[in-house]
Amino acid sequence: MPMSHQIDCSHLSAPHVPGATVLSINATERWNYSVPATPPFLLSPVQNLNICDVTVSLTHAGAENQVTVKVWLPLQDWNGRFQATGGSGYAAGEFDLTLGPTVKNGYSAVSTDAGVGLNALSPGSWALNTDGSVNFDALIDFSYRSVHDMAIVGKELTRQFYGTKPKYSYWNGCSTGGRQGMAAAQRYPDLFDGILAGAPAINWAKYVVAEQWPQTVMQQELTFPSTCELKFFSDAAIKECDEMDGVKDGIITDPENCLYDPLESVGQVIECEGQKITITNSTATIVKKTLQGPLDPYGRPLWYGLNAGAPLDNLVNTTTEINGTRTGNPFFVNDQWIKYFLARDPDYNTEQINYNTFLDLFWQSYTEYDSIIGTDDADLSSFHHHGGKLLMWQGLSDQLIFPGGTIDYRNRVERLMGGENRTNDFFRLFLAPGVDHCAAGTTIGAIPNDPFEALVDWVEQGDAPNMIPATINDGTQAERIICSYPQVATYIGGNADCAASYTCA
Ligand SMILES: *[C@@H]1O[C@H](CO)[C@@H](O)[C@H](O)[C@H]1NC(C)=O
Ligand SMILES: *[C@@H]1O[C@H](CO)[C@@H](O)[C@H](O)[C@H]1NC(C)=O
Ligand SMILES: *[C@@H]1O[C@H](CO)[C@@H](O)[C@H](O)[C@H]1NC(C)=O
Ligand SMILES: *[C@@H]1O[C@H](CO)[C@@H](O)[C@H](O)[C@H]1NC(C)=O
Ligand SMILES: *[C@@H]1O[C@H](CO)[C@@H](O)[C@H](O)[C@H]1NC(C)=O
Ligand SMILES: *[C@@H]1O[C@H](CO)[C@@H](O)[C@H](O)[C@H]1NC(C)=O
Repeated sequence: MPMSHQIDCSHLSAPHVPGATVLSINATERWNYSVPATPPFLLSPVQNLNICDVTVSLTHAGAENQVTVKVWLPLQDWNGRFQATGGSGYAAGEFDLTLGPTVKNGYSAVSTDAGVGLNALSPGSWALNTDGSVNFDALIDFSYRSVHDMAIVGKELTRQFYGTKPKYSYWNGCSTGGRQGMAAAQRYPDLFDGILAGAPAINWAKYVVAEQWPQTVMQQELTFPSTCELKFFSDAAIKECDEMDGVKDGIITDPENCLYDPLESVGQVIECEGQKITITNSTATIVKKTLQGPLDPYGRPLWYGLNAGAPLDNLVNTTTEINGTRTGNPFFVNDQWIKYFLARDPDYNTEQINYNTFLDLFWQSYTEYDSIIGTDDADLSSFHHHGGKLLMWQGLSDQLIFPGGTIDYRNRVERLMGGENRTNDFFRLFLAPGVDHCAAGTTIGAIPNDPFEALVDWVEQGDAPNMIPATINDGTQAERIICSYPQVATYIGGNADCAASYTCA
């Protein structure tokens, strides 16, 4: 039953946040408020919001930080639930862009800037102290402390406003937002009843350096493939492995069993922008090493690579100079991480990284930062005992969060928590074939329709999801299902674009 508030918005008082000092609280009623569309974060505008808009500012003893937490409380028709929303890239939150859709659905909602601002593309404004040392307070806020604080602030203001605690509390985020949800599951296991972690940026200290690997290989091979050549390799893998699942739809269901080797394509002539290009050994080697992931000098894997068929235009990206020369163009997450947190020099040139320095950077990142931002602790026993439910999902063609790292995490949790079935009691993973990072980028596969709703049903009705319906977003609206790992959607005959033609096996 919809509930309405018990006190006036302006009468909210500063919440008590253990470990923090609240500096100020400002609350304003807003009627018929709108959040404009802001791609890629918010694709359509959110209108007609009636909210109590609260801004809380807080700090921590000994840290020179000022964290801004925004809470939006529906003035009418609160659904009795609370939802904390996550950030992306180097931003811990997106304020209005996630708060808008969340309150529109009746939730009280919270978002934080973790005291590091809202620039998702660079930590340049906060990573280093004036003396050039790393700002560990800011990194800790970004990594996990702000997740605790925002949840306490949001829940406490919800209780004050409606005179009752939220019946259920949820986390919702993708990428950095997914990682923040996992920080909650690992460090603050009683904050949320349900956590939706999309493409979680866990294993941060390792995978972010691994994202630099394709650029390092290009520099060492002195070869910089064009977007057209890269697309050729993704398409070649799809051509070879598409029909292994019995359905010709341009989607590889099980990329782990796709044995396409880029070196097979050496010597093939393709057409790019009207010119004939012969695939060279160097170009094929770059793609092979990108799919393989970085290796140590003994040939042992340091981290995972991309899946066969995944797009390559983010990590193997290049820039074409006016004179036609191509150079490497590293993805911003790895480029900025290496500059600010590893080299501690904004002018550090990541082009100069060779196979030896790559190794040094990889282990430096792991040694110095894994305990802060790794967010890969497999011990979820406290979260489980608290009764929490974790729904994790990710695209198998994600080019930013290597799917292998997510599967490795799930397997480590299984080993620690007593196997597959016991883990499934509280943690389910859904892997979406052909889907790129957080269902954006170059997504050709079916996107899970509503994983958050599946989580709510699980938490509130005990309805553990075995599969999530999914839709191919290309105008055909073809249906698929995404199965709870390790099960895989299997075609059983009939119209290949109907969900009923698949089963989880
Ligand atoms: C609400 O705002 C919209 C613009 O976002 C406006 O078109 C509409 O007239 C407003 N409605 C009311 C009742 O003020
Ligand atoms: C709250 O409002 C006061 C007065 O308008 C302003 O000085 C202060 O910066 C605001 N605080 C926050 C956290 O927005
Ligand atoms: C092609 O590259 C591979 C490494 O990917 C190397 O082992 C092989 O020697 C190269 N072949 C030629 C003909 O250069
Ligand atoms: C690749 O780099 C170009 C600039 O050279 C940029 O415009 C483009 O957005 C990049 N592509 C991706 C997928 O990041
Ligand atoms: C093309 O331009 C780049 C950057 O301006 C320069 O480094 C490179 O030497 C030029 N290449 C040729 C072939 O002129
Ligand atoms: C796990 O659950 C499945 C389905 O409920 C069941 O068939 C299987 O025997 C269980 N495995 C173990 C090891 O208990």
